Amino acid sequence: MRPPLTRRNFIGRAATAGAGLALGLPGAAAAEKSPASVVKQAVGDWPLSDQRDAEALLQVLQSGHWGRTSGGARVKEFEAAFAQRMHAKYCVATSSGTTALLAAFGALNLGPGDEVILPPYTFVATFNAITNSYALPVFADTDAASFQVDPARMAAAITPATKLLLPVHIAGSPADLDAISALAKARGLALVEDACQAPLAEWRGQPVGTAGLGGCFSFQASKNLTCGEGGAILTNDETFANLCYDFHTPTGGKKSVSSGRGANYRLTEFQAALLLAQLTRLEAQAKTRDANAAYLSELLHQIPGTVPAALAAGCTRSAWHLYMFRYDATKFAGLTRAKFLQALAQEGVAASSGYTSLNVSPHVKALATNRHYLRIYGSAAMAAWVERNHCPVNDRLVEEAVWFAQTKLLAARSEMDRIASVIAGVQKRAGDLARS
Ligand SMILES: Cc1ncc(COP(=O)(O)O)c(C=O)c1O
Repeated sequence: MRPPLTRRNFIGRAATAGAGLALGLPGAAAAEKSPASVVKQAVGDWPLSDQRDAEALLQVLQSGHWGRTSGGARVKEFEAAFAQRMHAKYCVATSSGTTALLAAFGALNLGPGDEVILPPYTFVATFNAITNSYALPVFADTDAASFQVDPARMAAAITPATKLLLPVHIAGSPADLDAISALAKARGLALVEDACQAPLAEWRGQPVGTAGLGGCFSFQASKNLTCGEGGAILTNDETFANLCYDFHTPTGGKKSVSSGRGANYRLTEFQAALLLAQLTRLEAQAKTRDANAAYLSELLHQIPGTVPAALAAGCTRSAWHLYMFRYDATKFAGLTRAKFLQALAQEGVAASSGYTSLNVSPHVKALATNRHYLRIYGSAAMAAWVERNHCPVNDRLVEEAVWFAQTKLLAARSEMDRIASVIAGVQKRAGDLARS
């Protein structure tokens, strides 16, 4: 059987069909066309591009200004456009979502001895950004209905060493920002949103990213807004914006009083030009995803055993980076999730089982014996840390979750009908399939 599809590779596989058909790069089949030529793309392909993207890239190429430190204006233009679209005062563009998180943590001068509370239902990069700062990641369990972090579990994980609350808007749907902001205020903690999957998501009408100190976004290749690799920090706090700026470009900054630390996390002019072009189609794509996701949820609610992830009460818009639901095998004659996914795939409905249990993964557990961590925190604290990371709700959720990629939600409405009818058909045959 094929290994389960991860978020990235199951979007990637759909997109490979169009690989080499995008821009006319030297050596590619399209090399004889003009560099600005673009080729037809099919439904499900990702990323999408057209003449606007090609021309934007060519302009940067010919300008000779390829970086923000060599006189380019595109990065600044993108920062202004993204901040305006997301109703934030400041934006610092970065080379990835990970480096957006690292710059935000650098601005907070996060370091050894500091604890950061994060959900286990996230991409490993959220965890890695914390350990890159030698801070201690502490997992707070998930709310099964929404797949988002449970604010009550965040509150329970706070200790005197806690410095930062780091909720993740997983799948592009906002975590409960009312409860988490109130918690941060009440306990005097910084709040940074990992909004890497969530451009255009809204909480009570306000785009995500500014509920606390700031929010971090990713423009990696699978994301709804992409330039291959890229990221951004949004904030309404001028001091924090300056600190992030200087951390991400230590030689070109000097807007703030530095903590003495920093790195080069700059976005290039090519990436910014591509993002500006991609931004022109983001809202139309988001509207299609909104409508299809709402319709698909109506259909799946009618099928016993497929329970769409609930949106938190204050969520006024999801970015729908993923469409997630819980699969209950008992309503499918005991058909395992793996066989369910196989049956869907056989009928052309690609789906993934999503994340595995990050909090108990070998990668995460290795931290307990990492020599730097043992020196910083001590062996008793690291042994206790393993015990602190139990997340029983999440353990169960990772066994039940099913995901569709955001590209599925860009299809015609009739495709949502087809998905639902394929699932209903599998349910009818579930007894036979379970025995086969
Ligand atoms: C929730 C989350 N956090 C962080 C990241 C890291 O972003 P990047 O891959 O751009 O470094 C991602 C990207 O996949 C993500 O999904």
